[in-house]
Amino acid sequence: MRGAPRDLRPNTQAPRPEPVHNTPNESFLPVMSVIAREAGALLLQYFHQGLKIEYKGDADLVTAADRAAEKLIRERITKRFPSHDVLGEEQGLNDQGSDYRWYVDPLDGTTNFAHGYPVFGVSMALEHQALEERSSGQRGRRIAGVVYDPTRDELFTAEQGRGAHLNGKPIHVSKAAQLKECLVATGFPSHKRHKNPNIHFYHQITLRTHGVRRAGSAALDLCNVASGRFDGFWEFNLNAWDTAAGVLIVEEAGGKVSRFDGSPFEIDSRETLASNGLVHDALLHEFQEIFAGRGLTPLPEPSEYKR
Ligand code: IPD
Ligand code: CA
Ligand code: CA
Repeated sequence: MRGAPRDLRPNTQAPRPEPVHNTPNESFLPVMSVIAREAGALLLQYFHQGLKIEYKGDADLVTAADRAAEKLIRERITKRFPSHDVLGEEQGLNDQGSDYRWYVDPLDGTTNFAHGYPVFGVSMALEHQALEERSSGQRGRRIAGVVYDPTRDELFTAEQGRGAHLNGKPIHVSKAAQLKECLVATGFPSHKRHKNPNIHFYHQITLRTHGVRRAGSAALDLCNVASGRFDGFWEFNLNAWDTAAGVLIVEEAGGKVSRFDGSPFEIDSRETLASNGLVHDALLHEFQEIFAGRGLTPLPEPSEYKR
């Protein structure tokens, strides 16, 4: 028998993190949004004209669009905030010892992009380290983030303590409270993919949910959790530029992000588990079981299907 129909209305009751003091009063979102839209428009131009694929590794692709978008973003940031540090996927870290650090993924979803599959975006976040954090050795906090999907003209934004928005309208995580009513997402690394155990997680979580999507852009996956389209997302070994904006957007939309054992997410954690908060413990439990090898449903042997 089927359960009650799923309530698809956004979870407007979800608690949002308390505003943190000492957040700079200046809103960086307007300028970040302009830059992200400009970089997104540039990506679209390249997307429609078609590109030569180059390889950074075995199956790790890069295109001229990745480089051109990062160059544009860096130029815009440097012009407006010359003293800020910038960490970008293609050019690395420009460290000037600033209290501010930008995390830039100029093209998240390069493999999709290079194959003409229209799921990719620009991801940018800004971190600020207050004086007291710096002197006590604490890390900075991400104070603003934007992810722009130029193919759908969707701009996801968030500022610490001020909520998350999609094209200027508030967004909230879903209200799904049980795994069996969830649609979740994951990703697989292009680098060292033979060393990644995620296929086991994919299989087990598929059997316990409505399904697992693998869309190919971690930043957009996180935004889809934030806007209630997905109820959860996980991935091994993401980099800071993949998650910096999306994690803030999920948290500001009322969701939760942790490592796979439930401990707090850090920008260099390399374990990202995001959810609407309501199914977080259930996902953590499944992860524990899978890591321990308990209660796993075996994958059928392909030979069973061969006549
Ligand atoms: C990749 C995407 C993909 C994820 C990979 C990332 P890139 O970023 O976010 O969804 O599964 O792990 O590396 O290389 O397209 O910027
Ligand atoms: Ca990326
Ligand atoms: Ca990238």
